[in-house]
Amino acid sequence: MLLTGLPAQEIQRRRTFAIISHPDAGKTTLTEKLLYHGGVIHQTGEVKGKKGTKAVTSDWMEMEREKGISITSSVMTFDYQNLRINLLDTPGHKDFSEDTYRVLMAVDSACMLIDVAKGVEERTKKLYDVCRYRNIPIFTFVNKLDREGKAPLELIDEIETTLQMQCYPLTWPIGIGQRYKGLYNRLTKEVMLYDQRRDDVGDVQVIPVSVYNDPKWKSAIPEDIYNQVLEELDLVEGVLPPFDVGEFLAGKISPVTFGSAKQNFGVDVFLNFFCQFAPGPQPRKTKQGTEIDPIDANFSGFVFKIQANMDRRHRDRVAFIRICSGKFERGMKIKHSRHDKEIRLAYSNQFVAADRETVDEAFAGDIVGVNDTGNFAIGDSVGSETKVQFEDIPKFAPELFARMGVSDAMKRKKMQEALSHLSEEGAIQLFIDPFVGAQDPIIGVVGELQFEVLVRRMQDEYNLDVRLNRLPYSVARWPRTTDGKPVDTLKGNFTIYRDMIEQPVILLNQEWDLNWAKKENPNVEFATSIARAR
Ligand code: G4P
Repeated sequence: MLLTGLPAQEIQRRRTFAIISHPDAGKTTLTEKLLYHGGVIHQTGEVKGKKGTKAVTSDWMEMEREKGISITSSVMTFDYQNLRINLLDTPGHKDFSEDTYRVLMAVDSACMLIDVAKGVEERTKKLYDVCRYRNIPIFTFVNKLDREGKAPLELIDEIETTLQMQCYPLTWPIGIGQRYKGLYNRLTKEVMLYDQRRDDVGDVQVIPVSVYNDPKWKSAIPEDIYNQVLEELDLVEGVLPPFDVGEFLAGKISPVTFGSAKQNFGVDVFLNFFCQFAPGPQPRKTKQGTEIDPIDANFSGFVFKIQANMDRRHRDRVAFIRICSGKFERGMKIKHSRHDKEIRLAYSNQFVAADRETVDEAFAGDIVGVNDTGNFAIGDSVGSETKVQFEDIPKFAPELFARMGVSDAMKRKKMQEALSHLSEEGAIQLFIDPFVGAQDPIIGVVGELQFEVLVRRMQDEYNLDVRLNRLPYSVARWPRTTDGKPVDTLKGNFTIYRDMIEQPVILLNQEWDLNWAKKENPNVEFATSIARAR
């Protein structure tokens, strides 16, 4: 049965997205401006928690603040133009790419932020590839127009060739750097001139025009800039067909807009495009091969993130559920597919960064954080009526490995428990050595910073003074038959370890060993990722 009336309308007005960018491209700054336009914050500077302002920040862990990086991700919700927008924060640092991957599983569109001077950077490319994998529509926001940078045509060409994606400029910049004057909005046919004197929300002068080369705006800016823009627009307008929303929704073209997050130029223009074109919640595929409509009357969702100790005083653990269909009500009973049991979702929260508010109801497209007493793992699906299992969220092969020691031998058990929590959270992966056993697991991570965070969290959250003893491995692979079944024995004298869901895995020192394993076992596939759910 499908929902109608108000609940259906609520679902249709949800827009859930994430910003992907290379560190320093301006994600925090843009987020802050979006929250400002959404009325969540009333003064810019709040997100970064600058001196004297309230820290409505997504970078809420101490270490994140110290290092100026966003490790964990949270959800920010605001209303704009009668839409309920959920912005999911993604960690910028490459060592936390798995976290980002999971977040991107939970969104319906993304905004790719690009620094006008730097163009497509390494991390942007990786994140873009993840979006491509799910085929979600991507907006592009070219940032820092108030600084000198690449010419717009050059930049668009770079994006198109590096990412193999067609761009469709919806706006065109008028000048750049010191001589940045504003934007031409190709859809509304408006020239928008910004007041550059203020380092914040400046005034905008809007000149409606009939065509881009309407002489009406000629006198408003220096002649050489006008001529330059006209020359560029002659080219753009001459070759581009009208904007095709269908192609955008199919992930084939990316609408591009320009601006300066810092000076709040063009952020409202982006937000308007977003509201006009961003898709609402889409049907989700299940493992059974069916699709669940977001307005299906039955509630369903999946866990894409688990975060322990968000509030130190309560030492709690929160499972973040992306609602895929229907309506969530606090206290409702749901069926947990993996455990095959019923659970009551008693405490539920929505988050504005570290601030949480109790939520009584939420709809498909929303993210709710539910208190978890150990029932949930990443990738678990839940449903109100029937057992559903959405597609798996994979985990990827770690590249750094260590065993952990604790200074106080009496605290070994506590350390094991802590490791197990953090592995359920997805912060680390654990592997069992058949000769050593589960009491001393091998820890695997993707990046160095994850180890640093691990040691810090052991100290801060569990009061354990630990040290890491590094292991020489750098390659982990899950051996599989060609039809995906786990392989328990290999030729060539390889030790078979187990991951936390009992899957056989090999840990090797270097690629050379992997090539040897492949040579000895030609009928075995060595997978770099594995489904997380059991
Ligand atoms: P991130 O989250 O993507 O890592 O980037 P963040 O917003 O922290 O921005 C990185 C730096 O770039 C910051 O400078 C920020 O002010 C600056 N920035 C962001 N957007 C713009 C823009 O449109 N124009 C210009 N000129 N700069 C921009 P910072 O020096 O690290 O910090 P701050 O002292 O300026 O806050």
